[in-house]
Amino acid sequence: MRPHTARRGALSRALPRLLGSLLLVTAAGISSACAAPEASAAGGAPAASEPRPLGQIVPAPVSVRPGGSPYALTPATAIRVDGSSGEVRRIGEYLAGVLRPSTGYALPVTDRSGPGGIRLRLGSADTSLGAEGYTLTSGRGSVTITARKPAGLFHGVQTLRQLLPDRIERDSVQKGPWKVAGGTVTDAPRYGYRGVMLDVSRHFFSVAEVKRYIDQVALYKINTFHIHLSDDQGWRIAVDSWPNLATYGGSTEVGGGPGGYYTKSQYKEIVRYAASRYLEVVPEIDMPGHTNAALASYAELNCDGVAPPLYTGIKVGFSSLCAAKDVTYRFIDDVIGEVAALTPGRYLHIGGDEAHSTSHEDYARIMERAQAAVGRHGKTVMGWHQLTGASPVEGAVAQYWGYDKTSAADRQQVVDAAKNGTRLVLSPADRVYLDMKYTADTVLGLKWAGLVEVQRSYDWDPAAYLTGAPADSVLGVEAPIWAETLTDSDDIDAMAFPRLPGAAELGWSPAETHDWDTYKLRLAALGPRFTAMGIDYYRSPQVPWPAEPAED
Ligand code: ACM
Repeated sequence: MRPHTARRGALSRALPRLLGSLLLVTAAGISSACAAPEASAAGGAPAASEPRPLGQIVPAPVSVRPGGSPYALTPATAIRVDGSSGEVRRIGEYLAGVLRPSTGYALPVTDRSGPGGIRLRLGSADTSLGAEGYTLTSGRGSVTITARKPAGLFHGVQTLRQLLPDRIERDSVQKGPWKVAGGTVTDAPRYGYRGVMLDVSRHFFSVAEVKRYIDQVALYKINTFHIHLSDDQGWRIAVDSWPNLATYGGSTEVGGGPGGYYTKSQYKEIVRYAASRYLEVVPEIDMPGHTNAALASYAELNCDGVAPPLYTGIKVGFSSLCAAKDVTYRFIDDVIGEVAALTPGRYLHIGGDEAHSTSHEDYARIMERAQAAVGRHGKTVMGWHQLTGASPVEGAVAQYWGYDKTSAADRQQVVDAAKNGTRLVLSPADRVYLDMKYTADTVLGLKWAGLVEVQRSYDWDPAAYLTGAPADSVLGVEAPIWAETLTDSDDIDAMAFPRLPGAAELGWSPAETHDWDTYKLRLAALGPRFTAMGIDYYRSPQVPWPAEPAED
C-alpha cells in the first residue's frame, strides 16, 4: 500500500535550478511579494540587494544588535580558522562546502591571519554562551563567529547561512552580491535536547536519504537524531549475534517492498555524519511491543515457539516479546550491547510504547531488564512515556508523545514521574509528529492525532505543556516522523517542511521570542530557501509565503 504522493516530481525539483537565473532577475519582485504589507512591517524579506535583517532567522536568536556597515563576501574572501583546532578547520571546510557552489568563489580555509574574511574563533569569555552558543559580529570587511565550543561555532555558521541570500543554498553558481547585515547576534539555546526522529522501519531509508535529512535539520540547530531502528515491519540494523534480525527481519517494509537494513559500518557512517553536523544519534530498539520483525526472525522469541509471518501492514499493538522466556533477556542484552557499542552518544532508546499485547506485569518485567541492560552497556535509558507506567531507572528520560485525547491519568503518570526525577523530552503528537496530515486534503501522512497545521505545530510552550511537571525536568523537544506512508526523501520533505523549523525554534529560542505573528513572517522568508535547497514544501495558507515560480 504505497500511497500516492502529492509531490510534484523530479522535474519540479530540477526546475528551481533551471530557473535560477530567471529567479535572479525577478528576485526583487519575489521579495516584494513576500514583503506584502504585513511582512515588510516586521522587516520581512528584504529586496535582493539589501541584506536580510539580522534577526530574520529561524530559530529566533537570543539577542540582536543591528548596526554598522554590512559585510560582503567577495572572490577574495578567506575563511580564517586562526590558531584553531582541526575541529574548527573542519567547520570552516563545511562552511566553504556550503558557500562555494553558489558563489563560485575559492573561499580558502586558512589558519593564517589576515585582514578580514569569515573568522571562526574558539574561546569566548562569555560563559552564558554555554556549549552551543555563539556570537556573530558582522561589519565592513569581516564576519566573526566566536564560541566556547565547536558546536557553538557550527550553530553560528547556520546563522550566517540564513543571513546570506536564499540563493546561497543553490548548487550552481549564482550572481551576488553576498551581503550580511552589520551588527551582532548573541545566541544560545533554551534547551539542550533539540531532536528529530526518523522511522526507518515502516519504510527503509538509505544512508544517503538519512544524511540529506540530517543536513536539512542542522540548518535549524537541531542537535539530536533519534533513529527508530526496529518495529513490526522491519529490523534495520545488523546484529552479529542475531543475524536473521536484519537479513530476514529487515527484508520487507510497509506495502511489501524490499526493505533493507544498515550494516554496522553504514550505521557508523550515519553516526559519524551526524556528529560532523553536531547531532548526537539516539538509536531506538522498540520493545516489548512493535517487535514482529524480531519475532518473525527467531521462533524461540515467541512464547509458543512459532514464528509469525513478516508483517507489511500498519496496525500497531499486536506483537510482544515473551516475558517468561530466558532467551528474551539474552536477546535484549545482546542487541542492546551491540547497538550501544556502535553508538558514541549518551542515550539508548528502548521504546516501550503501545505494548497492547503485553500484560502489565510482563511489561514491567521486560522494561526493568531492558533498562538494566542499557545501564550495563554504559548508556542512559530513553523510552516513550509509557515507560513511566513501569519503574523508570534513575536518570531515565521519558519521551512524551501524548495528544489532546491522552487521558488525564496518563498525563498525570508522566507528571508524577517527572516530579520523581524522570526527565522529559516533549513530542506531543498533535504538535510535532511531522507525519500528521496538515489538513484533510494532505495526501501523505496519518491523522490519528488530528490535523496539524503549521500554526498548531508551533504554538505551544514546552515549559507549560505538561502542567505540574517541574520546569527543569524538560530536557527539550523532539519532532518525530513516522514512515507508514512515507517512502523517500521527497515524502519526508513534504511533511517536515515547513513544520520542522517551528519545532526547532521551540527547542532553541527564548520563550519571550515565541510569537506566531512574527514567526510566520520569518518562516515565510524561508520559503525561497527551501526551494533553493530542493525542498518541495507545503505552502500552508497560514503563512504569507513569497511568490515562487510556477512548477508544473
Ligand atoms: C508512538 O507514537 N507510538 C510512540
